[in-house]
Amino acid sequence: MKCRICSNQIDIFMSFGKMPIANAFLKEADFQDEYFFDLATAFCEKCLTVQLETQPDPKLMFHENYAFFSKTSKHMQLHFEKFAEWVNTNYLKNKDSFVVELGSNDGILLENFSKKGIEHLGVEPSANVAKVAKENGVNTEVAFFDSEVASNIVEKYRNADAILAANVMCHIPDLNEIGKASKILLKEDGVLIFEDPYLGDMVNKVSYDQIYDEHVFIFSALSVQNIFAASGFELIDLLPQETHGGSMRYVLCQRGVRKISESVINIIANEKKIGLNSKTTFDEFKINCELSKERIQAMLKELKKEGKKVVGYGATSKSTTILNYCKIGPDLIEFISDTTPIKQNKFTPGMHIPVKTYEEFIRYKPEIAVLFAWNHKKEIEIKEKEFIESGGKFISHLF
Ligand code: TYD
Repeated sequence: MKCRICSNQIDIFMSFGKMPIANAFLKEADFQDEYFFDLATAFCEKCLTVQLETQPDPKLMFHENYAFFSKTSKHMQLHFEKFAEWVNTNYLKNKDSFVVELGSNDGILLENFSKKGIEHLGVEPSANVAKVAKENGVNTEVAFFDSEVASNIVEKYRNADAILAANVMCHIPDLNEIGKASKILLKEDGVLIFEDPYLGDMVNKVSYDQIYDEHVFIFSALSVQNIFAASGFELIDLLPQETHGGSMRYVLCQRGVRKISESVINIIANEKKIGLNSKTTFDEFKINCELSKERIQAMLKELKKEGKKVVGYGATSKSTTILNYCKIGPDLIEFISDTTPIKQNKFTPGMHIPVKTYEEFIRYKPEIAVLFAWNHKKEIEIKEKEFIESGGKFISHLF
């Protein structure tokens, strides 16, 4: 295949087999027409990006029935509050600032600017989540961001001081276009700030479930530097984050305009040390994925033999990769509980495990819960003190 960023010829290092759309929770009547594609990842030795071989049409993923609402996690709400505060303190020095967020979802980040009376705009392609944002006073337009949309925003509003994105940039296949569009929208010293699941954490934890249809890229600092160089940006700061099981916040600005922090130098040096610039690292990662698969399959089969009550906790997007790659169905996991109403009383994509309410988790009193929302482990372990104290166990596919 050709690299999406630099057109270099690149090879697949890992195939996960046939996959459905990660967030396409469905009713039994729709099993027949379920959409599948080959989920495989490749590494570009030239621009150092890790990317999907094929990504389904974005319109199949981000639409008026998008099942992902950011505000389901209290911890994430707090994270975004702090994120907004940090942007305010560091980059929005005067009151007349203008902030634009790409993929603003239900407004979880922008509401913090809205509350402070800071001019803001969310650009969100999924109409249902955008509607929730607007109802909460977050100025939002339904669109996929590109150069045309950027020019329209400049015309209708003005140039922005900051463009923000959280768990969005890694969804976008044409990042060359995003670079161009960001340059159009930003002021000369404006900053492009985004955070996404971090490749270093994924390799280290073997959290291959970060790989699914929406995540067309899993970034490292090295790759982000190369991707945005084409539109004149350079990294000026890097801040590791605990969210989504290990993320990185990237701060970019037009080349030479702002000072580069020590953290950029240090993190890039570390990435070279741990081999995020080398194909061998990803060949090893593949072996570790296979070991993880064997381990969780054996664990669940054993629990079944012992007659244990096994359920899943959190019907995450990530769980779609685990379930379909490891061929785990309702014979091994009776149901998955999830707090998102739109997922409840449906079935998981591909393997068709029933998704039930959180109340059902409490009522059923399972002995084992596969923690698919492992990125919220701390929050969940506090919430489920009673389950743990009465002998319940959380398990996961992680090493
Ligand atoms: P998320 O962490 O965003 O993962 P992904 O990006 O892989 O979808 O989603 C968390 C999911 O887990 C979401 O569907 C809500 C659910 N959830 C619960 O059911 N209970 C909880 O206590 C938490 C924190 C999440």
